[in-house]
Amino acid sequence: MGSPAMRNPPLVLLLLVVVFLVRVRAGKIATEVVVPEFVASYLLFIDTYGVFLQSGGGAFQAVVYNPAGQQDRYYLAVLHAPSKSCVWTANRAAPITDRAAPLRLTERGISVEDPNGTVVWSTPAFSSPVAALRLEDSGNLALLDGKNRTLWQSFDRPTDSLVSPQRLAVGGFLASAASDSDFSEGGYRLDVTAADAVLTWMGSLYWRLSNDASSTKDRVGAVAFMVINGTGLYLLAADDSVIIQAAMPLAELRIVKLGVDGKLQITSYASANASSPSSTEAGFVAPSGGCDLPLSCGALGLCTPKGNDSSCTCPPLFAGSHDGGCAPSGSSTAMSAASCDGDGAAAPASYVSLGDGVAYYANKFSRPDHAGSNESSCQALCSGNCSCLGYFYDDSSLSCYLVQHQLGSLVNANTTRGGMLGFIKVQSSPSQGSASSSSSNSTLIAILLPTIVAFILIVVVSSVIIVSWRKEKRRASRPTSRLRDVQLRRNRSPTSDSAHLVYGNDVNDGDDIVIPGLPTRFTHDEIEDITNSFRIKIGAGGFGAVYKGELPDGSAVAVKKIEGVGMQGKREFCTEIAVIGNIHHVNLVRLRGFCTEGQRRLLVYEYMNRGSLDRSLFRPSAGRLLEWKERMEAAIGAARGLAYLHFGCDQRIIHCDVKPENILLADGGQVKIADFGLAKLLTPEQSGLFTTMRGTRGYLAPEWLTNTAITDRTDVYSFGMVLLELVGGRKNRSEHVSDGGGGDDDSKSSTGSSSRGSRSVYFPLIALEGHEAGQYAELADPRLEGRMVAGEVERVVKVALCCLHEDPQQRPSMAVVAGMLEGTMELREPRVQSLRFLRLYGRGFSGPANGGDSGIIQALSGSIGDRTRSVTTTLTTMSGGASCMSSSQLSGPR
Ligand SMILES: *[C@@H]1O[C@H](CO)[C@@H](O)[C@H](O)[C@H]1NC(C)=O
Ligand SMILES: *[C@@H]1O[C@H](CO)[C@@H](O)[C@H](O)[C@H]1NC(C)=O
Ligand SMILES: *[C@@H]1O[C@H](CO)[C@@H](O)[C@H](O)[C@H]1NC(C)=O
Ligand SMILES: *[C@@H]1O[C@H](CO)[C@@H](O)[C@H](O)[C@H]1NC(C)=O
Ligand SMILES: *[C@@H]1O[C@H](CO)[C@@H](O)[C@H](O)[C@H]1NC(C)=O
Ligand SMILES: *[C@@H]1O[C@H](CO)[C@@H](O)[C@H](O)[C@H]1NC(C)=O
Ligand SMILES: *[C@@H]1O[C@H](CO)[C@@H](O)[C@H](O)[C@H]1NC(C)=O
Ligand SMILES: *[C@@H]1O[C@H](CO)[C@@H](O)[C@H](O)[C@H]1NC(C)=O
Repeated sequence: MGSPAMRNPPLVLLLLVVVFLVRVRAGKIATEVVVPEFVASYLLFIDTYGVFLQSGGGAFQAVVYNPAGQQDRYYLAVLHAPSKSCVWTANRAAPITDRAAPLRLTERGISVEDPNGTVVWSTPAFSSPVAALRLEDSGNLALLDGKNRTLWQSFDRPTDSLVSPQRLAVGGFLASAASDSDFSEGGYRLDVTAADAVLTWMGSLYWRLSNDASSTKDRVGAVAFMVINGTGLYLLAADDSVIIQAAMPLAELRIVKLGVDGKLQITSYASANASSPSSTEAGFVAPSGGCDLPLSCGALGLCTPKGNDSSCTCPPLFAGSHDGGCAPSGSSTAMSAASCDGDGAAAPASYVSLGDGVAYYANKFSRPDHAGSNESSCQALCSGNCSCLGYFYDDSSLSCYLVQHQLGSLVNANTTRGGMLGFIKVQSSPSQGSASSSSSNSTLIAILLPTIVAFILIVVVSSVIIVSWRKEKRRASRPTSRLRDVQLRRNRSPTSDSAHLVYGNDVNDGDDIVIPGLPTRFTHDEIEDITNSFRIKIGAGGFGAVYKGELPDGSAVAVKKIEGVGMQGKREFCTEIAVIGNIHHVNLVRLRGFCTEGQRRLLVYEYMNRGSLDRSLFRPSAGRLLEWKERMEAAIGAARGLAYLHFGCDQRIIHCDVKPENILLADGGQVKIADFGLAKLLTPEQSGLFTTMRGTRGYLAPEWLTNTAITDRTDVYSFGMVLLELVGGRKNRSEHVSDGGGGDDDSKSSTGSSSRGSRSVYFPLIALEGHEAGQYAELADPRLEGRMVAGEVERVVKVALCCLHEDPQQRPSMAVVAGMLEGTMELREPRVQSLRFLRLYGRGFSGPANGGDSGIIQALSGSIGDRTRSVTTTLTTMSGGASCMSSSQLSGPR
């Protein structure tokens, strides 16, 4: 239970901070505006993948964005919703590093905070208070004052994209992102100058709008803006007259984006809500030639144009290098900008020829550094300048070009005019020592990085050890904590009242809320009749007790009494109930009705007479063992139910707490998933935490630990664990379990597992080994005594292992899992290398730790339990102890 206080003080402190910061009305997408005080985080809006605001027409969304599921990088961003294209990022240089960290809208503006409370990004100070944040249909995100005047807008601060009809003033620029998952500034820029729009890389020009085949110059004049609109890309003078234009067919929406590869792409959409680009238009890409990008073949790669395509080779004296480009094949290495110490003093230089008939991408647009020279004076020019990395000499025009900053690709210019002689400066790097004598940054990093990593590892390991040592100590003082828990519970009502003052602004409005699709509403008196005054208690689920009852029509129901404090207002509650009540699927427990009266919240579910799967599987009553056929039915039914939650509803619902306790059985082979969608019934503070502490240990996907995004694949992992338990007929982490009845074994096992060297077996590892040995039948529950279908055991084990892949993206979707279990879809083979972590998890659980990583892993696995536990503690402390929710209580109606 949540009794042991402060097992992990730093974590508790951190969570306390988070709890205080997290205050929102509900994790629902707002339309067009949100007003202060508003808070969003990826976690609070996890069901919508961080989307918290959409434009009136729905074409654009404001989102706490987690690109490519990258851990530790969350951005405040604007997306074009149908194409999922990110058109603006607020904190590109300073991503939030935690999915629970808040973005706040206050009267002072927007601020984005890291978990430790540091503001990583904020809007500037304004003279008047902010009244609203509005996402316009154009995709512009604006802060407005009380008179609807714009105080600040995202259109004024473009990142790597423009959306029609956005303008970019002279002197402004777009900067590419570093990669598809890291939005910090990369090397490419689009600059608007007084004469042109140009693309540069490391200060070298590689494209001009005025040189592009698609552009026409209307008149001479100074450029004041670049604008993209329905009819094309324009450079305009201050009086809006056109100077240069690239006309395009009429389209409602155009998005200009400078890609991570340096390509400027304009995508056109026939309407703002169209998800695919307009088909009537080829689309604009600049530069258009295959060899025109600075790194089309990597550094010093030789690009040969072929029609509109290209191919890459290395110059004669060069060979492919590890970074995708080419490097001198001898013992010498190319100079880099970093090897120049900055005072300009040039060491005696040697050169390697790049061959004849080559061009350098940057020379197309740059003026020669020296004209009228001969080749030897061109070389002398380069040798005398430390920052010169090489030179190109054109003997037809006697022009000399120096290469600065960084080396890019070469172009084979034998077929065209403009071929030159090229040389790059090299330093010889014999095996001994001369490499280290160059004080290049990369060498420094190569030395420092392992040191830092090792240091961090030591700190982490020792703190984990300290924590688990404290836990051992804490065990003795448990009775005291329990007492404290009771006292906390007593303090309940005042806190819940104040919580209502804050959140339940419509708590007192009447019982006349009308929301279409609401299931039957009962009065509390009716509920008392139904349950015969709460006489038969059939379980204690995650939100409170569950009672058996009977509706007037004679059908049996399970009534769940929700006992969380700070329940949201009635209207929000009813809205969520309407959502849950409208989800109908044969494999999902049906909500029959509800009751909300005063502080009371009750949910009436259909009754499942055989209770939860864990009961039938682990504690069969009177020798009634769950037979193999029934296990297959349970697996397939549960998979279908989850697949429906993930893909079948209007709103995607991630369950977050898939485990046998939440899979209910009834006569006639009925299998239903319970407790879906309930996270939203809690107050926002709770829902944030609820999500973190949901998922019971043992079913928790690794991403809960690594702070990677929680997606539907997180449920898939938990389901894989359930599948293995169905096969083995025992808990995956079977340890010394003294059966205490009730739903308590989760908390028991998390306590037990942290005790070192417990007699434990890690079944997923055994299953992996069975798979590698091709021996599946041995994995099946011995109690079945061979009454199973060998082929099906193999299938279930393989599907389960696929579900456990460490990388969430390698796990199949729930729909595919269901198909594979049914045998209607081709069975995939598990990737053993993606399951290696099971070995580490497993080793930590078998036998006494004999040093090495097993100790670490054991401590680490122990800390999962700690995390869950301290969240519980925090919540208890926070809310005055009104709701003591531990992971073991977060389970379904029984
Ligand atoms: C907060 O954390 C960030 C990194 O996540 C760190 O750079 C910053 O210094 C921290 N600030 C404080 C006040 O600890
Ligand atoms: C601000 O604009 C919104 C909608 O655009 C409108 O409902 C509201 O009345 C306006 N407020 C003022 C003070 O003009
Ligand atoms: C786009 O801007 C140009 C230049 O201002 C203008 O001539 C053209 O009519 C605009 N097109 C649309 C669809 O607004
Ligand atoms: C897109 O919006 C237009 C109106 O702007 C509407 O007629 C059309 O049905 C919408 N299409 C989709 C796919 O939502
Ligand atoms: C580019 O080449 C492909 C074939 O390699 C061809 O299908 C396509 O039409 C070409 N595009 C242009 C614009 O020439
Ligand atoms: C090297 O050349 C660059 C560009 O040509 C120039 O800006 C720089 O001042 C030169 N450095 C020295 C030391 O001559
Ligand atoms: C190259 O030009 C320099 C002067 O710019 C001159 O001193 C030198 O002799 C010339 N070398 C050759 C090979 O012509
Ligand atoms: C260009 O042609 C010359 C002479 O045929 C040859 O030596 C050189 O290697 C060619 N250059 C490239 C880049 O293929």
